[in-house]
Amino acid sequence: MMNYSSTRSDPPETPDTAAAIRAESLNVVRGPRQVLRDLEFTVPRGQITGLLGPSGCGKTTLMRAIVGTQAKVTGTLDVLGRPAGHPTLRTRIGYVTQAPSVYDDLTIRQNLDYFAAILDPGHTAADRRHENVTRAIADVDLTSHTDALAGNLSGGQRSRVSLAVALLGTPELLVLDEPTVGLDPVLRRDLWNLFHDIAASRGATLLISSHVMDEAERCHRLLLMREGQILADDTPDALRTRTGSETVEAAFLHLVDEAVAAAARAKETTR
Ligand SMILES: Nc1ncnc2c1ncn2[C@@H]1O[C@H](COP(=O)(O)OP(=O)(O)OP(=O)(O)O)[C@@H](O)[C@H]1O
Ligand SMILES: [Mg+2]
Repeated sequence: MMNYSSTRSDPPETPDTAAAIRAESLNVVRGPRQVLRDLEFTVPRGQITGLLGPSGCGKTTLMRAIVGTQAKVTGTLDVLGRPAGHPTLRTRIGYVTQAPSVYDDLTIRQNLDYFAAILDPGHTAADRRHENVTRAIADVDLTSHTDALAGNLSGGQRSRVSLAVALLGTPELLVLDEPTVGLDPVLRRDLWNLFHDIAASRGATLLISSHVMDEAERCHRLLLMREGQILADDTPDALRTRTGSETVEAAFLHLVDEAVAAAARAKETTR
């Protein structure tokens, strides 16, 4: 794990106009495998960036590196003007893991009260904290279930509780790992509307992974990944235009075919 302690020799934070995330020569090794290879990209502030690619391509690993929980990360990875994993970033980032992490024996409100207390031990007045929790529950449309035990919720409701936890404390960067998996189309639409609201009204940056390509169309920018590498870093429009494709899915397949052909040519010439 990248460990940083806050010292007086910390470089000054880069200005707000800089990218929310900046990676250069970023490599991650997990077990015997190099899972991320020489990544280079930036994620702009105040926008929704989609992280897309097939299962196993490295989306979760990249998100873990960004929030500072991934071991064996080398290269440059700056997040909100600090090196990833810096202690001051803890309250500025909301992270929702792929598997919902809530306590089954607590109600929705109790779960949120618990995480609110961890996030902000003793600084916020009790009524203010209560307000934040109520707002986060409303944001994910679970007000009518506030006092239900998490263990009695449906899969989609449980994921929304995890999302509510990430929304506590109005983070500047939200890292959401496949937040819409298993949700019905209506709920998926509502959540994407919420993501856009959060970006527009709070100026927050959202990095959202998915392997559902139609969700790509709802992002301002896309990072397309394959086998631990970035295939494209562009807007959905530019991607479609550049590849002469009707959809982001077709554009992605086009880029995969190109990458496979380039790899085959490279192999041919080294023979
Ligand atoms: N603890 C680990 N040790 C070794 N390899 C791992 C470990 N965790 C993940 N991997 C490998 O790292 C690669 C990337 O995994 P990762 O979970 O980042 O993919 P992903 O894109 O999030 O996939 P999915 O869409 O299925 O969630 C995979 O090949 C996976 O097998
Ligand atoms: Mg994953």
